[in-house]
Amino acid sequence: MLFQKSLVSIEDVSTEDIEEILKISDSMVKLLEAHKNPHSMDSYVMATLFFEPSTRTRLSFESAMHRLGGSVLSVSDVSSSSVAKGETLADTIRMAEAYSDIIVIRHPLEGAARLATQFTAKPIINAGDGSGQHPTQTLLDLFTIWKEFHSLDGLNVSLVGDLKYGRTVHSLIMALSRYDVNINLVSPPSLRIPDHFLARIPKSKKVRITESLDDVIDSSDVLYVTRIQKERFADKNEYLGLIGSYSIDEVIAGKMKKSAIIMHPLPRVDEIKPEVDFTGNARYFRQASYGVPVRMALISLMMGVS
Ligand code: NCD
Repeated sequence: MLFQKSLVSIEDVSTEDIEEILKISDSMVKLLEAHKNPHSMDSYVMATLFFEPSTRTRLSFESAMHRLGGSVLSVSDVSSSSVAKGETLADTIRMAEAYSDIIVIRHPLEGAARLATQFTAKPIINAGDGSGQHPTQTLLDLFTIWKEFHSLDGLNVSLVGDLKYGRTVHSLIMALSRYDVNINLVSPPSLRIPDHFLARIPKSKKVRITESLDDVIDSSDVLYVTRIQKERFADKNEYLGLIGSYSIDEVIAGKMKKSAIIMHPLPRVDEIKPEVDFTGNARYFRQASYGVPVRMALISLMMGVS
């Protein structure tokens, strides 16, 4: 049950909720294709508070709300809001609560979205909290996999790149570990997934940790590639030493199963070469497009108007 609940961690969503979201997202895809607007939410307002850069997440949340017939209030540049005057997160959230029905927040600090829930009774959606989690990205990632393979079970999924700071993979790993999935974690040793996330994966789950893409490339059904999170490094030289750790090109994509897909939450920098866009394996742009129907499904369930 998502009605009037906040979504901060993917653990806030039950497996039954995920199933419902996938099904409703699918019907939203059909509504969008038919240009049908359910007009169910014309009395609802969503506030989006983005304390960190975003293209896809903010725009797809806003598009989703508009497509549902609702309205959006947006702070996309905090330097133009009272945060620049020193207003606290608590007070900013209290104001968003007064003006809207649902609050979407992205913040550079891990735990900020959870903290925000303490200052409002309205539902908060975590659109990324530092190196913490990004649960709505995970919902659209699951939807992409489900659309492709018609199931979330029986797959070999490899997560590649910055598993230490990448919040999308933190949420995704925990969601995938509920299904019958083999998980391969491919990263340089210094960018391994933090132990506290690893510890939350059930012991029964098969998880392989490796540094080598070659170990997994030909057996993966899903290759989920991530950007090295430049903005999280205290030491820029450490970042410079890690860029280019993995770079998927046509030759590497050619080693994959024909049916396998390459995903990426985007933005990409150099970890997937543009030539890969034209291979049969690339799914990252379609994945990004699913941000709208999946967020439509989520918002309508949270507001109880589905
Ligand atoms: C991701 C994020 O912000 O965590 N982007 C997104 O929301 N699609 C991934 C990233 O920035 O690398």
